[in-house]
This record gives sequence, structure tokens and C-alpha cells, in this order.
Amino acid sequence: MKISQPRKLYIPAMIIVAVVLTLLVFIGFSTYRHLNHARSDALKFLHQRGVATIAIIETSIRSIWGIGASKEESIDQLISEIGKNEYVAYAYMVNKEYEILHHSNHLLTQSTGLGLWLNQMPDAKQISSRIITLSDGTKVYELAETIRPLSLHRLQDSEDFLKYNGGIIVVGLSMATYETAQQQDFHHAIVMLSILAILGGGAFFFIFVIHQYHRMNYRLRDTQEYTRQVVDSMANGLLSIDDSGRVLSYNNLSLEILGLTRAEIQQLDLRKVIDFQASGISQTLNQCSAILDREISIAQHNGEQWPLSISVTPILAAEGACQGAVIILRDLREIKLLEERLLRTEKLAALGKLSAAVAHEIRNPLSSIRGFAKFLSHALKDRPKDREYADVMVKEVDRINRVVTDLLNFARPLEPEPEYVNPAGLIDHTLRLVEGDAQSRGITIDVDTQNSPSRVYLDPDQITHVLLNLVLNALQALDSGQSMNVGVALDADLSAVSFWVEDDGPGIEKDHIKKIFDPFFTKREKGTGLGLAIVQKIVENHHGKVQVVTPLQGKTHGCRFVVSIPMDLEARL
Ligand SMILES: Nc1ncnc2c1ncn2[C@@H]1O[C@H](COP(=O)(O)OP(=O)(O)O)[C@@H](O)[C@H]1O
Ligand SMILES: [Mg+2]
Repeated sequence: MKISQPRKLYIPAMIIVAVVLTLLVFIGFSTYRHLNHARSDALKFLHQRGVATIAIIETSIRSIWGIGASKEESIDQLISEIGKNEYVAYAYMVNKEYEILHHSNHLLTQSTGLGLWLNQMPDAKQISSRIITLSDGTKVYELAETIRPLSLHRLQDSEDFLKYNGGIIVVGLSMATYETAQQQDFHHAIVMLSILAILGGGAFFFIFVIHQYHRMNYRLRDTQEYTRQVVDSMANGLLSIDDSGRVLSYNNLSLEILGLTRAEIQQLDLRKVIDFQASGISQTLNQCSAILDREISIAQHNGEQWPLSISVTPILAAEGACQGAVIILRDLREIKLLEERLLRTEKLAALGKLSAAVAHEIRNPLSSIRGFAKFLSHALKDRPKDREYADVMVKEVDRINRVVTDLLNFARPLEPEPEYVNPAGLIDHTLRLVEGDAQSRGITIDVDTQNSPSRVYLDPDQITHVLLNLVLNALQALDSGQSMNVGVALDADLSAVSFWVEDDGPGIEKDHIKKIFDPFFTKREKGTGLGLAIVQKIVENHHGKVQVVTPLQGKTHGCRFVVSIPMDLEARL
């Protein structure tokens, strides 16, 4: 299963977050500036309006004075008319002692601290302005101007005028429109910021979701990898198949056991490798029942049959139907070998005991018979024909003796007495013993000791005995003009040294291969059937193994015996 790269998903989310953050900064800054500008613009406007109003009041007062009518009443009227304007909160006039001369309405009582404020002004001639908050929370932009004496110069001596001299006109302008505008601006900014915040939050949530997805993905891959490792580390072959028999998953060992490559197992029909009927896989798929430890054998590419134990358990779908099966394959080769060896050992032990007893019983009378035969031969020296019979008796008794010696050799425990020796030397020594025989029969012997190690730890007498047995068997299998190859080499993985004896004789029949190591199995008239049994025993005592290849690779005849002795024998013994 392939998992898409979630990292790419981060990019659009990151871009959104970046854009939102930039917009936030930008809009925040521009809103602030806009609010500030709007505020100063509105104040400027209010100020101008205030200045204009004061100018109107001043001009009107001047003209009222000029008319000469009831001045105070007219000014009173003027001020209250001005106060009726919707943008004017109040207007009033005070004398220089800040006593009220005229006023528009009650609101002016809240215009407190006038004297204190104006006294702080640097230039009394100028128009002063301030913002004050009334008790009901409304804000008022207040302007104040000292009545200019110059403008009233004609009346300087009048008593009325003296009252006004140094007086102050105060106008309070309502800031309601200004405040609503500002509030609207503020609301607008809040809405914008909220939208951005939601957008940013969304993007962050998106990133969070991707992050979670990424983490889960990672964990999933982790778990998958872990499961794969566990399955691959299993000591058994594991396969899962669907209900049509197609392989869905497998571990390395299953490939090894079935002798398939990864590409092969994915394409090939498993029925061609495993007999579904015999193994019970068909039964599991059809009836949803499990099969436990059934023994089957599977043919390998080299024609070898591997004994396997197979267990098949159904994979149940939610509705209880069988949607496939899990197959566990156990390689039984080792166990079978051990079983065989155990059986052999038991057989050999019983046989050994029997042989030893029999041999012992035979030996004593044999020496008497041999003695008599020798005596006869001596006594019949004048009758050569009869003497020949006596000599045949001696020879045959000697042969029986050899068999008995072999038998006793075989029955004895034969503990190796190893030392470091040159293996090529052992081969030379062995071949010297059979040289004459081989030459007389016209058989050539090739020797290959090129890749031999110089020293190997083994029992030289016993291994010579092994080599001699193998070489004699080969010689016996060969006809004149045929050849034999004997050699020794260090294995490629340096773990063992291998001796081999190869001949191009007829080879061994398939049915006999398993039996040739059994004691007393022989196909030769004069054979004892003990040669290979002894070979096997000696090699096993050296922790080694004997292998037979017959016919030779790529041929229809010939036979090759390979004896491997471990290089670390000293540590093992
Ligand atoms: N190189 C060989 N070529 C053909 N057959 C062989 C070879 N080596 C052994 N055999 C077969 O294995 C049998 C058992 O051999 P062995 O145990 O040495 O007993 P023996 O030599 O006394 O028959 C032989 O009788 C022979 O049939
Ligand atoms: Mg033999």
C-alpha cells in the first residue's frame, strides 16, 4: 500500500495563514490610521463650525450694539437662537469674572472649570477649544473666545459695555455625529478583524488536521513496518491469500520455502506450487474450517522434494463468509533428518551390540579354522592340487576376518583423536594405497588440492579410512578407461573443509541413495555393506556431513561423494 505525501498539503494552509497574518497587520494598521484621520478631520470640521458660530455671535452682538435697541434682550435672544441649532449643545457669555451674562439652555451648568481652563491658555485672544463629557455621557466640543475690545471701541465708555469688556463667548458643539461615524468605523474594523480571525483560525485548524493526519500516517507506516518486521522475523513461512487463491501478502521465509521470487509469487497461481486439495487449502476456503499441521511435500527447482507442515486458517469476513486464508508453512527437512538420524542411531546401536557379540563368537573358532587350514596346506605340500583348496580356505577365512574386523570397527565408539594435519597429504597417502590397483585396471585418478587449506584439525587415521572407503567404492564402480577425481578445498564461506571423490561410473539408483549408508547394504557380490556406514559414523563424530550427488550435474551417470569437516572443530569437541 502506498501512502501519499501529506507534507504538500501544508503549503496552501501555510499560505492562507501567511496571507491572513499580513492582512491582519495591514488592516489593523490602516484602520488605526483611518480612525485617527477621521477623528482629526471631524475635529477640524467641528472647530471650524465653532469658530464660525462664535464669529456669527460676535458680529451679531456688534450689530445689536449698533442698532441701539434693548441690547441685553437682543443678545439673550441671539444666544438662545444659536443654542437651538441642532449641532449646538449650548452657548453662553460670561464677563471677565466668569459670571454668566447670557445663556442658551440648562446644559451650560455642566460646562465647569471654565476659568481654570482659560487661565491655563497661553494666549487669551485666541480661540481655545476642549472636549468635555457631560454628566449624561455625551461629549461636547467646547470653544471659547474673549470678546475683542477693539470691535466694541465705539462704546468703550458706556456702562453696558464695561460689563462686556473682557467677557467670553462660549459655544459647546454636539459631537454625536462625529461619535456615530467613529463608532461605525470601529464596527467595520471589528467585523473585518473577526472575518480575518475566523479565516486564520480555519487555516490553523486545517494545519492542525493535516498535522494529525501526518502523525497518524507516520504511526500507520510505523505499525506497518513493525508488522512487516515481525512477520519477516517469523521462523515459519507465512502467506495470506484471497478466496480465489491469489497471494496477498507473504514473508521472506515463505519465498524461500516455496522456491519463488517476489515477482513470481505475485503473478503465479499458487495452485501450481501447492496442491490445494492435498494441503487442505481448498477445504478451508470452501468450508471455512482450519487445517492444522498437515504434512505435504513441495518440489523445488532442482527436483528436490521438501517435506513441509502446513496450517491453514480461514480469514472470516464480517458476514461470517470466508474471504481468504492464512497459510503457515514449516520446513520439516531438519526435523525429518533428525528423525532419520535418531532412527539410524537406534538401529545402529542395536546392530552394533549384536555384531560385537557375533563377531566375538566368530573370531575364536575362525582362528582355529585358519590354524587347521594352514596346517593342512603345510601337510599337503606334496599334493599341490589339494593344497590349493587349503590355501583357498585360508584366504576365505582371512576375508571373514576382515569383515569381522570391519564389524568390530563399526560397533566400537570410534572417538576421533584429532590433530592439525595437511589435508592434501591425507589424499596423497590414500591414493598411494590404491595406485597400483588403479593403474593395473587402466583407471586414471585426477587430484585437485589447489584450494586446500594448509592445516585442518581432524583425526588423520579416521579420515584416511573415510577417503579410502570412498576411493575404493569409486574404483569398484569404474571400468577400464574411466576416471576419478579426488580433491579437497576450503568452502567459499570458510566454515568447512570439503573432501570429494567423484567418478564417472554408473552412479547410484535413486531408490538406493537413502540406503547406501545403512550397514550391510551392498550391491556388490563381495561387499560387506559396511564401508559407507563407517564413513558416515566417522564424519558424524567429526561434526561433519556426507553428501551424495548422483548422477553428476548435467550428466546421466557418475557419482560424487563430498565429506565436509567444520573448520572450528577444535572449539566444538
Ligand atoms: N561410487 C559409487 N558408485 C556407484 N555405487 C556406489 C558407489 N559408492 C557406493 N556405491 C553403492 O553403495 C553400496 C554400499 O557401499 P559400501 O557401504 O561401501 O559397501 P560395499 O562397498 O561393501 O558394498 C555399494 O554396494 C554400491 O552399490
Ligand atoms: Mg565399500
